Amino acid sequence: MKVLGIESSCDETGVAVYDTALNGPDALRAHAVYSQIALHAQYGGVVPELASRDHVRKTLPLIRQTLAEAGIGVDEIDAVAYTAGPGLVGALMVGAGVARSMAWALDVPAIGVHHMEGHLLAPLMDVDPPEPPFVALLVSGGHTQLVAVDRIGQYRLLGETLDDAAGEAFDKTAKLMGLPYPGGPQLAKLAENGTPGAFKFARPMTDRPGLDFSFSGLKTQVLLAWRASDQSEQTMADIARGFEDAVVETLAIKCGRALDEAGCDTLIVAGGVGANKRLRARLQEMAHKRGGRVCFPPPALCTDNGAMIAFAGALRLQAGQRNDNDAIAVTPRWD
Ligand code: KG4
Ligand code: ZN
Repeated sequence: MKVLGIESSCDETGVAVYDTALNGPDALRAHAVYSQIALHAQYGGVVPELASRDHVRKTLPLIRQTLAEAGIGVDEIDAVAYTAGPGLVGALMVGAGVARSMAWALDVPAIGVHHMEGHLLAPLMDVDPPEPPFVALLVSGGHTQLVAVDRIGQYRLLGETLDDAAGEAFDKTAKLMGLPYPGGPQLAKLAENGTPGAFKFARPMTDRPGLDFSFSGLKTQVLLAWRASDQSEQTMADIARGFEDAVVETLAIKCGRALDEAGCDTLIVAGGVGANKRLRARLQEMAHKRGGRVCFPPPALCTDNGAMIAFAGALRLQAGQRNDNDAIAVTPRWD
């Protein structure tokens, strides 16, 4: 089955073709992402109406491009998967409208996918995918969650952020030091030149039991340190390093606890912050010490993309689900 996947929940248009007849990375016949970052950067954040309009402009050309790269004609598509939520309502409606219309015209099934299930399953598009049970750390701009996966499709929330998501904390911290939106990846880049230990920030909520997170206080600590500093380039890098270390260490401590609680040794990591190099190295080290395994998608599949939606959709279709008889609707808020 060749599944076309369409992602449009926020500021990236992602399209992919996933072929269930193939295995591992080969199954991803083609994927392309168009990022709207440049469009929104001047406003310091995503402007929902502009996002919707840009998805309208980009979705069809990106589908044509992806099908050409996959070497298949539109009539060879066996199903269409799309992000049905959570996300920006207008942006989601563009992807859902295109996906459902194509499925109807081609007379093939359509399936609406939960964006976070897409992220969660992305590490399984691997040659040697981990088998459940495992624990998933989902760290994106909108979510920070620890989820126990007993089997695909059956998820137990073990803990989540009580305020800012990890990616949001990266972005807000970068912004307060004057870096342009979205500052997360740039802050991580700056941190590479920072001196470890020059600034030490708290590891929030690690001094008490539990698997919830809180990152908003960390941002305030950085703000106070930044205001009291000489604000030189080196200080900026040192603060970035101190902040990154605090987030990475907090996530690592809670991942260790979650594995203990779930009684398993396999961790999968997904979402934009999963592209962070130091987080990847720290979790590898933790897994190695425990004699367990940690799996990440390649960095390009950590951030929003159509591949994860095509893949999650393929699994749901194989489980007998489809969503083409109801009205075209999306779920902007979806637990
Ligand atoms: O999953 P994603 O692409 O979109 C959401 O669903 O939110 O995640 C985007 C988030 C942003 O907050 C971005 O700053 C963060 O992931 N991010 C990073 C890195 N790359 C992306 N944060 C830290 N280090 C990175 N290398
Ligand atoms: Zn995402």
